[in-house]
Amino acid sequence: MAKTLLLLPGDGIGPEVIAEVRRVLDALALPLSVSEAPFGGAALDAEGVPISDTTVRAAIAADAVLMGAVGGPKWASAPRDKRPEAGLLRLRKDMAVFANLRPALCFAALADASPLKPDLVAGLDIMIVRELTGGVYFGEPRGIETLPGGGRRGVDTQVYTTAEIHRVARVAFELARKRNNRVHSAEKSNVMESGLLWREEVTALHKAEYADVKLEHILADNCAMQLVKAPKQFDVILTDNLFGDLLSDEAAMLTGSIGLLPSAALGEAGRPGLYEPVHGSAPDIAGKGIANPLAALLSLAMALRLSLGFAEAADRLETAVRAALDAGARTPDLGGASTTHAMGDAVIAGLR
Ligand code: IPM
Ligand code: MG
Repeated sequence: MAKTLLLLPGDGIGPEVIAEVRRVLDALALPLSVSEAPFGGAALDAEGVPISDTTVRAAIAADAVLMGAVGGPKWASAPRDKRPEAGLLRLRKDMAVFANLRPALCFAALADASPLKPDLVAGLDIMIVRELTGGVYFGEPRGIETLPGGGRRGVDTQVYTTAEIHRVARVAFELARKRNNRVHSAEKSNVMESGLLWREEVTALHKAEYADVKLEHILADNCAMQLVKAPKQFDVILTDNLFGDLLSDEAAMLTGSIGLLPSAALGEAGRPGLYEPVHGSAPDIAGKGIANPLAALLSLAMALRLSLGFAEAADRLETAVRAALDAGARTPDLGGASTTHAMGDAVIAGLR
């Protein structure tokens, strides 16, 4: 039976970049069954919820899910549980994709597009492994309550268990073994109990099963600083949900543009992966036809390789992306004037 890929275009520039994904899929002509469903604000408008039960079921039943982006000013005042972001968090949780792989790779052609000096970032190849289904994003209790005296009190809970830490740390160690064999584990063990547990559990797992990998613990704030000071010291960065959100945006910018960064969210072996460009819905440029589709196309490459069994097509696609950049294709985020469509054309040309 053909493998199945569910596309969730979503909001903002999501539909524009997913349109290029469709064109590239047509050009690749793989035996793949592709379907599409509403997601985020688009789903809220059409179905009254940011993701429907039907769409969640289709996602869990697919081999891979590739989304565009969710959110935008139009839905900013929707109740929290109806906001597009709530749909994304539910999808991550229900698909149980606990390990979010966010590579920050600096393409040779783009070393001077980075705000850092080219020699600091040329050849940069970092993999951030962000815990994605736990921590403060999901911890209970949470909420805003009114105090007797009239003020209010907002609460979030950062919580991790041994099992949650070990399963994501395993992903980081396994990846490191296939790369440069180094893991930096980032937390705030100097102030947070969950951070101290994180450090102790990563240390224990490392000692028991991954002693061959070089492990260093780093405080998350120092990690943020080191990322701009000397980014090439990093190979794999393992971190929690919230610090991973911050550090991956920072790492993305090292590469020249957040418009280039793909990501994969993986669960237990054999379960479908969720693939998403890191850039978000970019409402400021939505509808203008100038969004960079490369993050979405590189996310497709990750899906082809990690969930769909088309490693060779993934290699071809990544080579075509590199060729498009070498040939000078640049959307405005990269300092050029190419349209989304022209960027897609350049990649498709590279596939031939
Ligand atoms: C990301 C985004 C999301 C997150 C938002 C849209 C909920 O910033 O994927 O990094 O915070 O995880
Ligand atoms: Mg983010």
